[in-house]
Amino acid sequence: MSESAQRQGDAFENLLHEERRFPPSEEFAAQALAQPSLYEEARSRGTEFWADQARACLSWETDFTQTLDWSEAPFAKWFVGGKLNAAYNALDRHVEEGRGDRMAIHFEGEPGDTRSYTYAELTESVKKAANAFESLGLQKGDRVAVYLPMIPEAVITMLACARIGAVHSVVFGGFSADALRSRIDDAEAKLVVTADGTYRRGKPSALKPAVDAALEKEGSTITNVVVVRRNNEPVEWTEGRDVWWDDVVDSASSEHTAVAHDSEHPLFILYTSGTTGKPKGILHTTGGFLTQTAFTHKYTFDLRPETDVFWCTADIGWVTGHSYVAYAPLINGATQLMYEGTPDTPHQGRWWELIEKYKVSILYTAPTAIRTFMKWGRDIPKKFDLSSIRVLGSVGEPINPEAWMWYREIIGGGKAPIVDTWWQTETGAHMISPMPGVTRTKPGSAQVAVPGIAVDVVDEMGQSVPNGSGGYLVVREPWPSMLRGIWGDPERFKQTYWSRFDDMYFAGDGAKKDEDGDIWLLGRVDDVMNVSGHRLSTTEIESALVSHPSVAEAAVVGAKDETTGEAVVAFVILRGSAKDDDDIVTTLRNHVGKEIGPIAKPRNILVVPELPKTRSGKIMRRLLKDVAEGREVGDATTLADNTVMQQIAASLRK
Ligand code: PRX
Repeated sequence: MSESAQRQGDAFENLLHEERRFPPSEEFAAQALAQPSLYEEARSRGTEFWADQARACLSWETDFTQTLDWSEAPFAKWFVGGKLNAAYNALDRHVEEGRGDRMAIHFEGEPGDTRSYTYAELTESVKKAANAFESLGLQKGDRVAVYLPMIPEAVITMLACARIGAVHSVVFGGFSADALRSRIDDAEAKLVVTADGTYRRGKPSALKPAVDAALEKEGSTITNVVVVRRNNEPVEWTEGRDVWWDDVVDSASSEHTAVAHDSEHPLFILYTSGTTGKPKGILHTTGGFLTQTAFTHKYTFDLRPETDVFWCTADIGWVTGHSYVAYAPLINGATQLMYEGTPDTPHQGRWWELIEKYKVSILYTAPTAIRTFMKWGRDIPKKFDLSSIRVLGSVGEPINPEAWMWYREIIGGGKAPIVDTWWQTETGAHMISPMPGVTRTKPGSAQVAVPGIAVDVVDEMGQSVPNGSGGYLVVREPWPSMLRGIWGDPERFKQTYWSRFDDMYFAGDGAKKDEDGDIWLLGRVDDVMNVSGHRLSTTEIESALVSHPSVAEAAVVGAKDETTGEAVVAFVILRGSAKDDDDIVTTLRNHVGKEIGPIAKPRNILVVPELPKTRSGKIMRRLLKDVAEGREVGDATTLADNTVMQQIAASLRK
């Protein structure tokens, strides 16, 4: 095992002594959608289990003739020959089958404005948007960059693209103009859909200027920018390129026929950080993605579409907002809540107020949020009626047992089952998770593979480790919602995920099996950090830092942080003429904000005279991590110059 994996293993050793167990209540188990027989069925049906789910969850215009074509592994084709339309499955069919009056989305804006859409209303809105986009020249296969806040138009835009067969590439609103431009260029997008802005902490916050800045440089592939009016702040306008959403969508016809696309037709690209400087455009296609997201949404959350109110708090800019906001809940005909703002505006009880108001019954959020609420104190949620909650989900990073217990006791009233779901942008849908009503849960563990999924923990050589041991998390068999590649870079796809071990998908996470064989996730084993559940690459931030004229060299590490899980800590060597003062730290933080986005700004930037390197010139990040986490520095004997760590310590004392 690599040094970092070993260290993580040691750090989490305590976790494995976690002995609390929470079997499902008899009452929940008796009526749960998932029953132990589901695992049995998955085992006995093999790949055909997914054919069953594809037919149960979706309406196919043309049925598929082959469940899986793995002949060109690792490039998979699922549900070969099948044809379907994602938007038809999410919308029209519910209306046709008499569910048009069911509430699809309750929207609550940060300032308190509300909107709601029934399935019939949402279908009409998506048809209009599809017509509007087509009138701007958008065609099947074209790419659309979506740079929107958490407002219903985000979902409407994604589904309108899917309806046409255009491929959306959502870029999180917290990414900078430069990051947006590089994603537009990589995907050669034709259209940008954005908004004048949004609201953040009670104030208007602009988005359109970032799009203007992104498109300033000549040579972009964008022909039009569609602008949703959200905060009514004045915006700059480029005639001929910019159009108001109101002008093109409101006047468009509400008649639009959804044409069925091939099961493997690209649905979306979503960029995510890897171990190199350049984000990867993860490609997902239609049939497999929709099957596994809908299946997991139904069983992992024990979804009752007629009565539940589902709330996934993830932003549309991340995969969780794709799979479990834009697609699965609508495919399953559920009612969901969508909230635009921050949890502490106008007060720290806003989420709990929303749960009380909309009677949210399934809450899906990230450990970083739970830890923040713990810090604010249990008295805040206690003021609200949370009795509607019956299932709680966690995603994005390992959940520490304390946060798990707090979530269960304070939010779940000591009885709602918690499902800790492990998955990735690349996996498209849940891969490891307890099933409510079946699994005896353990605080801090995601535990078992989803039925039909083959995960394992292996050693350096790719051998399955015995219970009680740790190693690397892998997936042994193809799964329906797996990424189909990296946009424009098939080699990188093979190299990143399929070259570490033979015939296995390497997830990049370390994991342990406990004595029962349950899986405990230990965090990344590569140069990817997880800050508040957001994936950031150390290399990408290092590249941003060295692109500043004052920086000669930079090394970035993820340091443990009580609230955000990890925090970005940067070590920089300045160029001769640059001065080490507070200004330079502020300048560099802002520079990273400009290059990547505010979410990537380092928590600390430490100016140092040297960086610790091995004789072959590799930076020993492990030693920097010790410094960043305030630990005694570990074994430094392999350094080319073993006085470097003393120099760093001396410069930090200054
Ligand atoms: O390290 C794992 C962590 O998040 C990574 C994937 O990040 P991203 O593609 O942004 O997707 C996040 C939302 C699905 C994984 O490699 N991760 C995600 N969920 C968990 C987790 N780590 C531990 N437990 C989880 N439940």
